[in-house]
Amino acid sequence: MDNRLFFFDTTLRDGEQVPGCQLNTVEKIQVAKQLESLGVDVIEAGFPISSPGDFNSVIEISKAVTWPTICALTRAVQKDIDVAADALKYAKRKRIHTGIGTSDPHIKYKFNSNREEIIERAVAAVKYAKKFVEDVEFYAEDAGRTENEYLARVVQAVVDAGATVVNIPDTTGYCLPQEYGEKIKYLMEHVDGLSAGRAILSTHCHNDLGMATANTISGVLNGARQVEVTINGIGERAGNTSLEEVAMIFRCHKHLGIQSNINTQKIYSSSRMVSSLMNMPVQPNKAIVGRNAFAHSSGIHQDGVLKNVQTYEIIDPHDVGIDDNAIVLTARSGRAALKHRLSVLGVEMSQERLDKVYADFLVLADKKKEIHDDDILMLAGADRATNHFIKLESLQVTSGKGVRPVASIELSIAGEHFEAAASGNGPVDAAIKALKKIIDRQMTLKEFTIQAISKGSDDVGKVHMQVEYDNILYYGFGANTDIITASVEAYIDCINKFKK
Ligand code: KIV
Ligand code: ZN
Repeated sequence: MDNRLFFFDTTLRDGEQVPGCQLNTVEKIQVAKQLESLGVDVIEAGFPISSPGDFNSVIEISKAVTWPTICALTRAVQKDIDVAADALKYAKRKRIHTGIGTSDPHIKYKFNSNREEIIERAVAAVKYAKKFVEDVEFYAEDAGRTENEYLARVVQAVVDAGATVVNIPDTTGYCLPQEYGEKIKYLMEHVDGLSAGRAILSTHCHNDLGMATANTISGVLNGARQVEVTINGIGERAGNTSLEEVAMIFRCHKHLGIQSNINTQKIYSSSRMVSSLMNMPVQPNKAIVGRNAFAHSSGIHQDGVLKNVQTYEIIDPHDVGIDDNAIVLTARSGRAALKHRLSVLGVEMSQERLDKVYADFLVLADKKKEIHDDDILMLAGADRATNHFIKLESLQVTSGKGVRPVASIELSIAGEHFEAAASGNGPVDAAIKALKKIIDRQMTLKEFTIQAISKGSDDVGKVHMQVEYDNILYYGFGANTDIITASVEAYIDCINKFKK
């Protein structure tokens, strides 16, 4: 059996479904180009029928990217497939990813149907997609909870109809690694054409029980030859399988003989880019890309690592692109140095935009001695707030031990000036109460997280907020060396997204 493993990245489709993480087309193109340099084989660029934005992103990514296959998701519905085929018209290599739920709960409650009819619909969708593209992937949604015997009949039917890849999603993240591996093995043994290479099986695992990576590896060890993954494991609920974990597992365990096209040295920059553009922090202890993934803090470990890194390190950080000697920019760095660092991080921009980012860079460099990659990525994404209807003009806060915090705030709303002051339990509470005196709406803060970008008391604080208004949750982001300002900016970011 061929041991080449294909990486199918769905950061821009399944990953982007995370509430609050939506990217615009320009940002998606940036991520797609980064994925291309990372060496992924397939980029799932969107679900074209779902929105004009998704349709347009598939078109633009198809134009921007050369080597990877561009894939568009559909339901097993002709209209979806028509729209996906249209969106893929500029792709050099293209794939339609169509499918339907195959588990009993899906068949009964979602489709009010029966097993035979689902097979008919699956076959019809694959045959219809084949009219537009040669490369058709079929997904059996909730395959993780689909009985193996019936699943084998579905897979056989779609392979006979021309599917080149069959995706076996553990949609709910339910399976145990052994169970998922046995499912793949069962299909490999019971579906004609799979072992002969007429079609390959793909894993698509969700992390609801923290087993997405283990299930994916088990799937590959039992014969799957494509893995569906996202950068940083992002995705709805607990997320999808993370690309970096799967890539590094096969690199560390070379004896398994699994080969791929992934350039692991691009892993770290890809992780930073996705985290920064989606405003989605990476947990510090996240395998491979977390801030602490290579930080040895216990005395015994430090002693061992100093004697020989192999004592406690199974991965050389350079292999994932972590560069300890990366040039740190300061207030004396010129535009060219900033431009170079941005391009190393995978960000290309026009001269006009670079001038704006450079001006912001100088302001930040005045406040912070050293500017790190995360700061630069934050600055590169900071233009989102410039078109805001409501803008923070100034904020002054008095707080400390033994004093009741007081804040005064100045806002510009559609160019008109407003100001207010309030006291509160703490400086953020006071500032938000002052803000609410100007913007009088029934809104409630539901989530509030503050994270320092790198380290040091002069660091930039990133704030994520969720505000509920009119029964809808809105996600906002702010970044500033002053965390009170960052918090108010995040709150204002939410309000600017209100639908009415
Ligand atoms: O998790 C899932 O089942 C999916 C399919 C649409 C492929 O994302
Ligand atoms: Zn999924």
